[in-house]
Amino acid sequence: MKFFIDTANLAEIREAYDMGILDGVTTNPSLMAKEGISGDANVRAHYKAICDIVDDKVSAEVISTDFDGMIKEGKDLAKIDDKIVVKIPMIKDGIKAIKYFHSEGIRTNCTLVFSAGQAILAAKAGATYLSPFIGRLDDISYDGLELIGQIVHIYGNYGFETEVLAASIRHTMHLVKCAEIGADVVTCPLKVITGLLKHPLTDSGLAQFLADHAKAASK
Ligand code: E4P
Repeated sequence: MKFFIDTANLAEIREAYDMGILDGVTTNPSLMAKEGISGDANVRAHYKAICDIVDDKVSAEVISTDFDGMIKEGKDLAKIDDKIVVKIPMIKDGIKAIKYFHSEGIRTNCTLVFSAGQAILAAKAGATYLSPFIGRLDDISYDGLELIGQIVHIYGNYGFETEVLAASIRHTMHLVKCAEIGADVVTCPLKVITGLLKHPLTDSGLAQFLADHAKAASK
């Protein structure tokens, strides 16, 4: 299972990378805006800064929603660094753009996926990654994890090569359940990754070990 971090914050990306468990980064226009990044040159420089931190796979999202715009923007983004994966929204021109980039050998991440039907279309077009949003489905009383299971099952039926990149992960149990289901990749905020470290028995056990060691050393 691959771990991506879902942020455009360089300090958070460095922190996750330093743990030695990071396989990539996903961003979106809202995450870039949160870091105060705007304007073509600044956006490109920020993506380059992210690519310089990690070893591989940085999803950079297009803003255009028409085919020609997505192709131009995607090609420009892909030129920033070999690690860039062009993130394309799940719309009709997006599917056409994914098909085009597939034929050009440019990796894509199909984003804003909320149904199994959308997942089938993206795989048929040759998306490298598919991003179904778990948390946003949960928010409207649908079962986000059930969708991940459905897509993993369907892709398995036909041997689709598109990797299921579970997104909009809000807490550690989302991540653990994705691992049980067999999602290829999870992308989540730093607090979910570091949340995996936590267990009260680890904390109390370590405190006891250290106290016992200090007691023995003071004799
Ligand atoms: C994925 O690529 C998205 O950037 C992200 O996971 C969306 O998460 P959110 O629903 O918490 O905004």
